[in-house]
Amino acid sequence: MLAVAILAAGKGTRMKTDLPKVLQQLCGRSLVERVIEVAKSVSPDRELIIVGHKKETVELALAQIPNLEFIPQIPQLGTGHAIQQLLAPLQGFVGNLVVLTGDTPLLRAETIQNLVSVHQQRNASATVLTAQLPDPTGYGRVFCNQDLVIERIIEHKDCTETQRLNQRVSSGVYCFNWQELAIALPKLTNNNAQKEFYLTEVFDYLETVIALDAVDYEESFGINDRLQLAHAHQVIQTRTREKWMRSGVTMILPETITIDDTVELAADVVIEPQTHLRGKTKVQSGSTIGPNSFITDSTVGINCQVTYSVIEDSEIGADCKIGPFARIRGASVVGDRCRIGNFVELKKANVGEKTNAAHLSYLGDVTLGNQVNVGAGTITANYDGFAKHQTIVGDRTKIGSNSVLVAPIKIGENVNVGAGSVVTKDVESNSLVIARSPQVVKSDYYDSQGKKKEKPAQK
Ligand code: UD1
Ligand code: CA
Repeated sequence: MLAVAILAAGKGTRMKTDLPKVLQQLCGRSLVERVIEVAKSVSPDRELIIVGHKKETVELALAQIPNLEFIPQIPQLGTGHAIQQLLAPLQGFVGNLVVLTGDTPLLRAETIQNLVSVHQQRNASATVLTAQLPDPTGYGRVFCNQDLVIERIIEHKDCTETQRLNQRVSSGVYCFNWQELAIALPKLTNNNAQKEFYLTEVFDYLETVIALDAVDYEESFGINDRLQLAHAHQVIQTRTREKWMRSGVTMILPETITIDDTVELAADVVIEPQTHLRGKTKVQSGSTIGPNSFITDSTVGINCQVTYSVIEDSEIGADCKIGPFARIRGASVVGDRCRIGNFVELKKANVGEKTNAAHLSYLGDVTLGNQVNVGAGTITANYDGFAKHQTIVGDRTKIGSNSVLVAPIKIGENVNVGAGSVVTKDVESNSLVIARSPQVVKSDYYDSQGKKKEKPAQK
């Protein structure tokens, strides 16, 4: 049997925030969500998560994740004390226990799978994922013999100056033989610099403890403060960009592009500089995004161009031209071969095929049919101060420039709306509507005014 425990009860004092450290966001997911994902990759029989500081907030944030057993640790007296909380829930459990810390989000699934299999092959009491860090400051130092059998782990704060020169650190990730650990746990003391019950003290009581160095030392990074969080961003961004470039995505100046690792990109997508793709965004093949675009939780179909634009929670069909400077939001759906251009905002818009809104418009709570042309400066007046109302425009209708469509309103198919109209009543199909004050022309007006106003010549 295999159980996994994740330590997530600490406060994260060094982050200097009210938000529990493990809930800090890192490229679209929290630190602890990333760790849970890795934990699940070893298909454990039990998944325990130790919560304490702002326990309810952490539990709520993770409520949708299946199979998690929340184990309270109150108060939080150290990592060893945290694992002592498992003695009751794991009573009678036979097998191995993997321990992960909620603040080690760079860990890869392969690494933890390898840790478990090395531990099983060597039949060890415990196997510790270690790393040789260029700067080991802050980490527990691992002292072992040539065969990588661990003698002791000493926390940074408890090390002498000479001991601190040791660059092999503990990543805080372990695989234990649970029965042996259960016997050692009650022996922990808090006789150390931080007066905490350290999990690392158990290695003084266990038989065979072996070190396994992570192939990529960055995986062992623990995130304790904002600088380390920023560094983790960089590591994940580099990994994500490299993954997509290897699978056929072109990136121009990749270091200026950020992509959440929840995003999906097809081959032959081109991402131009200063573009940011977030959440569950998907971009299909042949599309070019950017420069300077921001897309979150949206889908972009094949062969689109999105330039200098913002798209949120929306869907764009195939062969569309979006931007420059468009904003599409509020679950809008844009059909194939549309053009949504300069300074056009769509909100909760349902747009048919081959429909254009190319310049200076606000189109909110609107359904536009196929082949509609929305003239420059068209506005849907969708809000009466109390509620939002719908505008519906039929196929092939042309809205003249600078028109206001006062919702609720329905304009039929093949309608022509004269420029500058303020349309307040429904319009039937196939008609021309002009809703503006008629043009008044007074001939020779200038001359008549001019004569009256003519001043006497100066002397
Ligand atoms: C810990 C290890 C250190 C290792 C480093 C790797 C100990 C004593 N030290 O140090 O050897 O090099 O991780 O990143 O284990 N937590 C609880 N309950 C508590 C205290 C902490 O659940 O009472 C949780 C925290 O939420 C966090 C994790 O345990 O997710 C690690 O705690 P942290 O204070 O960050 O330990 P480090 O000082 O980084
Ligand atoms: Ca830490």
